[in-house]
This record gives sequence, C-alpha cells and structure tokens, in this order.
Amino acid sequence: MAEDARPGPVRILVFGAALRAGSTNARLASLVSKVIAETGAEVDLAKMRDFDMPLYDGDAEASEGLPAGALALCERIKRCDAFVIASPEYNASVPGALKNAIDWVSRVRPQPFKTKHALLVSASPSMIGGNRGLWSLRVPLEHLGTRVYPDMFSLPRAHEAFAEDGRLVHSGSQERLTETICGFMRLVRADVEFVCLQRRWYEFPGDRTDAPVTHRSEE
Ligand code: FNR
Repeated sequence: MAEDARPGPVRILVFGAALRAGSTNARLASLVSKVIAETGAEVDLAKMRDFDMPLYDGDAEASEGLPAGALALCERIKRCDAFVIASPEYNASVPGALKNAIDWVSRVRPQPFKTKHALLVSASPSMIGGNRGLWSLRVPLEHLGTRVYPDMFSLPRAHEAFAEDGRLVHSGSQERLTETICGFMRLVRADVEFVCLQRRWYEFPGDRTDAPVTHRSEE
C-alpha cells in the first residue's frame, strides 16, 4: 500500500458540555481525552464556552444566518470521525445550553451529526451520576442520525471522584470507563477503516440521505 493511502489515526472530538469553569464534566472530558489518546487516536478537546451562541430564534436565523459559535462547533464535528459528549444532567434531562447548541448546529445543511458515532458520559454529585440526562440526550442525537454507542458511563459523587492525577479514585470505575472507551474506539476504527455499518434510514425531515427509502418523512 502506498504510504499516503494508509488510514491515518481516527480523530475524536471530546466535548465538555457544561459552562461552569470548575465543571466536573470538563474533568471527565479531560480524562476521556487521555484514555482515547492512549489508544493512538487524535483528540480534539472542546468545551461549551468555546462556542458562544444565543438562544435559537428562527427570526434571527432568517435575518442573520447561523451564529459564529454554531458554525465553529459544526466545523469541529465535521472534522472528527466520532465524538464524545460529557454532559451534566439538569432536572433529569439535557442542559438547555447543550440542547440549544445541537438545535443550532442541526440547521446546517448537510447537518454533521448523521455520519458520526458518539459516546455519552456524565458526571454528577448524585448517586446516579447524571445517567437520566444521557438517556434524554440520545433522543435528539439519534433523531439526527448519530450512532450513539449503547454503553454509557455515568460518574456518581463526581465532586469527590477524581484523584490528583485526573484519574478516578475508585479503580473499578476507572476500569469500567477505560473498557467503555476502548469498546467504543474499536467500533469507530472498524467503521472508519472497513465500513462495518451503513445507515439505511433515519427520520430527520430536514435532510436527505442516499437511499430512497429514507425519504418517508417527505412523502
Ligand atoms: C442540577 N444538578 C442535577 N444533578 C443531577 O444528578 N440530577 C439532576 O436532575 C440535576 N438537576 C440540576 C438542575 C440544575 C438547574 C442545576 C444547576 C444542577 C446538579 C448538577 O449535576 C451539578 O451542578 C453538576 O456539578 C453539574 O455539572 P458540572 O458543572 O460539574 O459539570
């Protein structure tokens, strides 16, 4: 095989979805980045504060187009093979800022979510680690065609879960996080290098995919 025809390292966007400076989800995103980098992949670590955008407003979109923050986030998603979101749970659901960012980016055509794999992780001071928020987060992403990895990772009592080196104090939790990430990375690599999954249908009326059966929502 010619040198330049060899597949390069897969590229993963790791997105800490909280705005707070001391965010435990940012710490979790940073730990996830390290574990992914150890698998030989390229990591692009991002946080919500990098992508300033107003609340979605159809009038603003019509008169001014998409905000720079949404376009920048869209570019970062486009450039990756897969992404990880580390998100808090707010009132048992997705934080408004994250849903707002997904809504804005979903207005780009073609929208970038449909060709990506995603892994969802959360951190929370509660005993269930924000896991209900991740179930809510699956809904818009799967609607947009993202292949959301079946396993998720939720870190309970996150305010006391990190050691000084950034790893998890509880070795069993660290092991499970690493195993979850490695399983996800195996799937991403397989799909990038060998196309192991092909999407035939998903229900997003704003976009077309190649197969005619995907147009059900437009009939
Ligand atoms: C929360 N928090 C919270 N935690 C949780 O486990 N389940 C929940 O439903 C909620 N709901 C909720 C609503 C609102 C409006 C706020 C501000 C907070 C607590 C939340 O998990 C905690 O603040 C985390 O520390 C937020 O994540 P970061 O900022 O540390 O990444």
